[in-house]
Amino acid sequence: MDIKYERLKEEDLEAILKIEQASFPVPWTRSMFEQELHIPTSHFFVAKALPGKEIVGYAGYWQVVDELHLINFAVHPEYRRQGLGKHLLFYILCDGKRLGLKKATLEVRASNQAAQRLYEQLGFKNIALRKSYYADNQEDAVIMWLYNLGAYS
Ligand SMILES: CC(C)(COP(=O)(O)OP(=O)(O)OC[C@H]1O[C@@H](n2cnc3c(N)ncnc32)[C@H](O)[C@@H]1OP(=O)(O)O)[C@@H](O)C(=O)NCCC(=O)NCCS
Repeated sequence: MDIKYERLKEEDLEAILKIEQASFPVPWTRSMFEQELHIPTSHFFVAKALPGKEIVGYAGYWQVVDELHLINFAVHPEYRRQGLGKHLLFYILCDGKRLGLKKATLEVRASNQAAQRLYEQLGFKNIALRKSYYADNQEDAVIMWLYNLGAYS
């Protein structure tokens, strides 16, 4: 599948909200995504399948000094297990590296083994546990870091 990555735009919000709602127990709202469009240190991208340009995934990170903080990431349920998530995250990490960021971090639900495997494949390490972090079910958050973003390729 040929994929094109673009910066998130207002006109993409409807499509990514559908993916968001199908992907998370406590989905982001439209206004949460809208706010991100106006924060200079927030970088959101969508993955569009060519030729039709259907949105098949999205990811966003915050630039925090020299760190990349992954804050949202999902692939359309009908397009999972085809390598799209891995490719999209690789794109995001390369974008952060291009901006001069040195390391990357994220938090993920302890039960989300699929995402943790993907993050490990890209070099993230499970570093710490934040107990009862998620308010909806008191689930722990696994904190993962990739320390060598500057040397990433
Ligand atoms: C996590 C997510 C983005 C993965 O997207 P994807 O396009 O299916 O991932 P990929 O096809 O690139 O998979 C890469 C690797 O991740 C792991 N993985 C992905 N989905 C998996 C699953 N359902 N079960 C086990 N491992 C899985 C595998 O190791 C896989 O490699 P493999 O296919 O060679 O075995 C997707 O499942 C998703 O959107 N989930 C809901 C939202 C979410 O959890 N986001 C992350 C929040 S922290």
